[in-house]
This record gives sequence, C-alpha cells and structure tokens, in this order.
Amino acid sequence: MSNPKIIDGKAFAENIRNKIAAQVASVQKAHGFTPGLAVVLVGEDPASKVYVRNKGEQTKASGMASFEYKLDATTSQETLLKLIDQLNKDAKVNGILVQLPLPKQIDAQAVINAIDPDKDVDGFHVVNAGRLATGGQGLVPCTPYGCLLLLKDRLGDLTGKHAVVIGRSNIVGKPMAQLLLNESCTVTIAHSKTKDLPGEVRRADIVVAAVGRPEMVKGDWLKEGAVVIDVGINRVEKDGKFRLVGDVDFQSCVARAGAITPVPGGVGPMTIAMLLHSTLVAACRQHGVELPK
Ligand code: GUN
Repeated sequence: MSNPKIIDGKAFAENIRNKIAAQVASVQKAHGFTPGLAVVLVGEDPASKVYVRNKGEQTKASGMASFEYKLDATTSQETLLKLIDQLNKDAKVNGILVQLPLPKQIDAQAVINAIDPDKDVDGFHVVNAGRLATGGQGLVPCTPYGCLLLLKDRLGDLTGKHAVVIGRSNIVGKPMAQLLLNESCTVTIAHSKTKDLPGEVRRADIVVAAVGRPEMVKGDWLKEGAVVIDVGINRVEKDGKFRLVGDVDFQSCVARAGAITPVPGGVGPMTIAMLLHSTLVAACRQHGVELPK
C-alpha cells in the first residue's frame, strides 16, 4: 500500500496486538493471572463462524485464555441465559462476547443485558451505553473505538472537527457519534431518512460510513481533504466473481479524501484488536490492578 492516503488498519491493528501481548505477559509476571475471554456462538451463520474463529485465534496469540461455546441454532433463550450466568460467576472469564446476530427465538438485547456490565467487552450492555453517554468508566464498543484510534492517529486532536456518521446502529453508529462528541467534534448522525445525504457529507471533515450499503458514498460528496472511515463489509457479485466492498466508493473517494480506510484491511482488523484491549482492561479492573504501560 504505497499511497500515503490509505490508512493501513492491518498494520495498525498488528501493532496494538503486539503491545497487548507484552501487557498480558507483564500482568502474568507481576500479578499471576491470565486474562480470559469467552466467546459464545449460537447457530451456523458462516460469517459469524469466521469471526468467532479469528477472535479465538487472536486471543490465544496474545497470551490470553480463550473459552469458546458453540451452541445449536435451536438453543432456547433460557439455556443461553444459564450459560451467561455461569460465565458471569467464573473468575477465569474476564470478558464475555455473544456473537450477533442471534437466532429469532432469542431476544438479543435481553441476552446482552444479562452479561455482567464489567465483563461486557462488546460494550453493548445498557449500562455501558449509559456510561459512554454520561462520561463514566465503562467498556466501549470495539469497532467505533478502533475507528476513533485511526482518526486520532491521522488527525491528532479532533476538537471542533465536523464529523458525519452515516448509520445509527447500537453497534457502530450511535457509539461512534458519542465517542466523537466526547472528543469535542460537532457531530451529525445521518441515516436512511436523511433528506440530503450528499449535502451533509460535503460539510464533513470526518466521514464514518456504517450503513451496509455497498459503495454508497461517492467521491463528489466529499469535502477536499476529508478523512473517510469505511466500516462497511459488503459481499457483492460482479462479472460472476464475489468481492468485498465497503459502504464507500473507494475509487472515486480516494482522490478527494485526505485519508481513507480500504476494505478489506482498514477498520476490520481493528475490531478484534480493540476486543483484546477491552478484555485486558476488564481483567485488570476485576483484579484491581493498573493496566501495564
Ligand atoms: N456481529 C457483528 N459485529 C459484532 C460485534 O462487534 N460484536 C458481536 N458480539 N457480534 C457482532
């Protein structure tokens, strides 16, 4: 990747993972515990299976303990809640992640809210959403947290920047907007009912696209020099071949953007790196020790 405008999320995430591995070794030596992450997968969704496998592999590679639970697609909510209760009580488990989406018979928000908020490394529990909104010490959703690090790496202080977040999901859009607000950005949240999306985007110094619409954001929507973060991962077919594209039309945007994340290799690798970071943070808090420098 020779174009200096292209943000290399893969290399950035690798640096973070190396730092985490050193911090894990340091807590093991100084305090004698190993941080542990439990990942729960319900059903057979192919993309979820890949994500869960990658999470387990990278957890182990960082020196942390990985506990994987694979449940049948027909699992009842009651059974899943019993497992969550058991993991909440298990001192070896410092972080709990239930892979989404869940099968229809299960109320995902009820399951998330059954996780001990201090073990909720996804940051999706209503208590962690509240802490993020009110300035408390909580756990922050991994994907927006990773996007924020990439933005700060490129731009330094974000104070006063105009940020447009496209998408209002609980997983990305809303926490992303909250994180940018906490950095003193002026934040606009755009969504499917926004009247003039190109007009909103044209005013932005920072654009975060998280809508799940392939190549929707076009180059001529951008202000010259805007930093573009593409959270989308869309599998599209062209000429009989499948490829991954983001929510941003990379070819038209790269010319006008000041910096831009590619898909793949941009935001994607950051999500797991931030998950490992949150697991380490959660473990240190549970043990009442400082996070190693
Ligand atoms: N499915 C897609 N993204 C995520 C995520 O960040 N966390 C969980 N638990 N499930 C997901």
